[in-house]
Amino acid sequence: KKQVRVGLLGLGTVGGGVYKTLLKNRETILTRTGCEVEVVNILVRDREKERGFDVDAKRLTLEPENLLKDETIDIYIEVIGGIHPTKEIIEQALRSKRHVITANKELMAKHGADLLRLAQENEVHLLFEASVAGGIPVIHMLQGYLTANRVHEICGILNGTSNYILSEMSKTGKSFSEVLAEAQALGYAEADPTSDVEGFDAAYKLAILTNLAYDACVDIATIDRQGISQLTGADLALAERMGYAIKLIGNAKEQAGALQLSVRPHLLPDAHPLARVNDVFNAVTLRADVVGDLTLIGRGAGEFPTASAVIEDLTALLTQRENIRRPNWERAMNHRCTEQDAGA
Ligand code: NDP
Ligand code: HSE
Repeated sequence: KKQVRVGLLGLGTVGGGVYKTLLKNRETILTRTGCEVEVVNILVRDREKERGFDVDAKRLTLEPENLLKDETIDIYIEVIGGIHPTKEIIEQALRSKRHVITANKELMAKHGADLLRLAQENEVHLLFEASVAGGIPVIHMLQGYLTANRVHEICGILNGTSNYILSEMSKTGKSFSEVLAEAQALGYAEADPTSDVEGFDAAYKLAILTNLAYDACVDIATIDRQGISQLTGADLALAERMGYAIKLIGNAKEQAGALQLSVRPHLLPDAHPLARVNDVFNAVTLRADVVGDLTLIGRGAGEFPTASAVIEDLTALLTQRENIRRPNWERAMNHRCTEQDAGA
């Protein structure tokens, strides 16, 4: 068996899920990959924090350099979030020719093309399955299973927090702020939940999927974006009485050679497949020329679904490093953004 040493950057909701899963499923991972994975060093902000699970305090560090200078580390997992200092840490890790796995959609949407280029130049991989739709393996699907297809539309519920808020407000009549606080307590929301409720997080994910599907390089500032913070319980109740559900939908569509991207609340009739996707669940429909419509549904946020996606990237590195397809986000496509139908 091969020993693989991991440096974990962050031990919050996702990092905790990754750490616990690597310990709990150590034998399964060993059997399936032939590798014994050990988390040797963990970057945190607060070493004294009560984490609710056992972690060897000697492995915790406040200094990124302590991980980056450790030449015995094979793979870094970045689950800190945000742009700084995360981007600089990842750049340094890639330059030192170590693979990096990240769950950071904001970073990948804003700087993915440069970071992927840096990974390629250094002959290592930067993998990011967990950055879109939590536990749904949509990036693996787009990169590994649709090679013969031309995707012409992406449509989905891409933010677990806002879907949780909309469905809980509808189901229980609780207020927006009450259910947002629940989503935060459950570990679904971003550090700044504005990103969730104003549609930024869904826009980052839509940009990542679009870049993969179209070999594009979307400028996220051009995405037509509106969140859910203005919606009231009365809006949701009225929609329900009329036989509709309100969902925050991300949509990317190619029309006349240009891409149209939007994230906004949509009224979906009850019979629409996405109308019944509730709670923290996400759903992504890929509309492609050969396979037709393909819809994936699963938990879009939370510690274990997201840990599952991170560890999927890890096992890909352990078992099929040579065959991992490199995304090509070089060729920018002309895209314009207009209000449009959710693609029902
Ligand atoms: P948390 O806030 O729960 O965890 C962040 C972790 O990073 C904490 O352990 C924190 O340390 C550490 N950290 C933060 N800033 C620094 C810093 N400057 N230096 C060192 N350590 C730092 O975030 P999540 O786990 O929820 O999210 C992490 C990433 O995963 C984000 O990119 C997020 O978008 C993404 N993601 C999250 C999902 C979710 O369901 N929560 C799902 C999919 C992706 P300390 O613990 O000491 O405070
Ligand atoms: N805050 C994000 C969400 C986490 O609620 O969907 C998963 O990316």
